[in-house]
Amino acid sequence: MSGRIPRYFIDDLLARVDIVDLIDSHVPLKKTGTNFVARCPFHTEKTPSFSVSRNKQLFHCFGCGVSGNAIGFLMDFSHLDFVEAVEDLATFAGVDVPREASDHPSTIPKKENINDHYQLLEQVAAFYVKSLRTDEAGKKAVNYLKARGVSDELAKAFMLGYAPDEWQALANRFDQNQLVQAGMSVNKDGKVYDRFRGRVMYPIRDKRGRIVGFGGRVLDDSLPKYLNSPETLVFQKGKEVYGLFELLRNNSKPKRILIVEGYMDVITLAGSGIHYSVATLGTATSQAHLDLLFRFSSELVFCFDGDKAGREAAWRAMEPAFSTLKDGRQVRIMLLPQLHDPDSLVREEAAEGFTERVQQSQPLSDYFFDTLSGELNLNEMEGRSQLINKAKPYFEKLSQGVFRDMMFARLNELTRTNVLDVSGNSARLNATSTSNRRHESRLPSLPRLIIALLVQHPELINKVEQKEIIWDGLEFSGIQLFRDILAVVLETKPANTAVLLEHYRNHPNEKVIKDLASLSLLTSGQSVAAEGVENEFNDALDRLLTQAREACLDRLLAKGKSKSLDRVEKELLRKLLVIKHSGAI
Ligand code: CTP
Ligand code: MN
Repeated sequence: MSGRIPRYFIDDLLARVDIVDLIDSHVPLKKTGTNFVARCPFHTEKTPSFSVSRNKQLFHCFGCGVSGNAIGFLMDFSHLDFVEAVEDLATFAGVDVPREASDHPSTIPKKENINDHYQLLEQVAAFYVKSLRTDEAGKKAVNYLKARGVSDELAKAFMLGYAPDEWQALANRFDQNQLVQAGMSVNKDGKVYDRFRGRVMYPIRDKRGRIVGFGGRVLDDSLPKYLNSPETLVFQKGKEVYGLFELLRNNSKPKRILIVEGYMDVITLAGSGIHYSVATLGTATSQAHLDLLFRFSSELVFCFDGDKAGREAAWRAMEPAFSTLKDGRQVRIMLLPQLHDPDSLVREEAAEGFTERVQQSQPLSDYFFDTLSGELNLNEMEGRSQLINKAKPYFEKLSQGVFRDMMFARLNELTRTNVLDVSGNSARLNATSTSNRRHESRLPSLPRLIIALLVQHPELINKVEQKEIIWDGLEFSGIQLFRDILAVVLETKPANTAVLLEHYRNHPNEKVIKDLASLSLLTSGQSVAAEGVENEFNDALDRLLTQAREACLDRLLAKGKSKSLDRVEKELLRKLLVIKHSGAI
């Protein structure tokens, strides 16, 4: 939509706001010792295990494990995406969000412009509602809705309206330029006409309830049956779903969300008491849709017609599904009987019957393997190898975790092989992914302590710089991670842990760094003065470097006995001996 938010601004913002004040304004906090605590807003609990640290500018729940900085808090708590969270945080701090110049400066919408846009759409929706309810011509539409079982209450909840069957109903009432920009009118040879005429109008609202576009349906069998707003400044079909605002208004934390295809499906389901469905807007289910919906619920049920087109659409949804799945999230697939859509089915079977089908829908894993192996003969080696090849592109999208491991295990079982991790050539599943993870999360105590201290006190970088460490030949567990963090801290000079964490957003090491950031390092539970931390870090780092140098020295000496050392090794040996004799070892 506009240029990127500059990195420096995000860093400054995180250094400027106090996370304690921010969270306290959403969840009242109580001070205990150096921390602030509350009952966790992200899971149900009786005693507080949610803690906010002013030093680190982080929150962490010892109960459910969530953690993050001020931006992360707003994303999780207010269900915002990254940019929205930065904007909210800037508002909280009382500053404007700057944008980097984009390639096409003229396309950057001004803020007033966008607000005008929303305002216009709101007024248009109100006009459509009025013409449905009070105009003579609106009666036809009312009768149509009644015939489809839409109650007055339901029509209100979804703000349904009617676009009069005239060429300029809107054009005569609103600013024509704005109408064209908002996609409500079409400019043809200098004359401005209404896009929607003689249709029942369904306003499409974003998750905050702002109208971003409309769908419109004819009252008879004429074509096209539905018309939708074109993409505009505020409306992207691949990012919005129909019914989300109405769903959240009913329940902000639904157990599951059902994804259906049509406007009327969402409305009829809601009318039958099933308030947890949304519809894609005549487009395929995208990853952006799923990212959006997973912010509100951990279980998504894809509902498709049982015909060929529906089955194909279900399969096409696998790609975005695999990309967004991770532990704790679930996707299920529900294929309807032939000739039914949710609207017609829920009428026939009522909420009970329909709910039962939802509950019996297929887990993604079953659906995926059933569909693939249905086309293949797994009694033959050829069929089994085809299964691996067909599954491979999907599996590569899965993020690390138990679910991924289990999918691989299932594939191994079905193909009677042991080849997989698919992405990692011939490595066996158990040998690779689990041991890698252990390696990441359970560093031996000394390196883990050092890295955690650095993450929690990035200013300790000064100590590391003073040491002028020679890294050649040094090996210890976690060294890659340590050097990676050192490089980031050196380059970005983060003001606190929250800023450092921000640089790891969506980075493969994000989880590890978060864990280290909230690791409790103080056995006594007391805070340690800055000097204490510095000394502890210094000692620990010296001990670690000494051990690593000794080990390297031993390796070189041992090698030197059996074979000759090359020039680089000899030079390294010399340096290590100098350090040793200077008393550092
Ligand atoms: N759709 C669209 N443009 C069309 C046809 C359909 O955008 N020309 C979208 C609409 O969002 C519609 C959904 O695809 O709700 C499903 O279309 P379809 O199954 O054809 O219609 P139904 O939702 O069953 O519509 P209705 O029950 O009102 O006949
Ligand atoms: Mn229908």
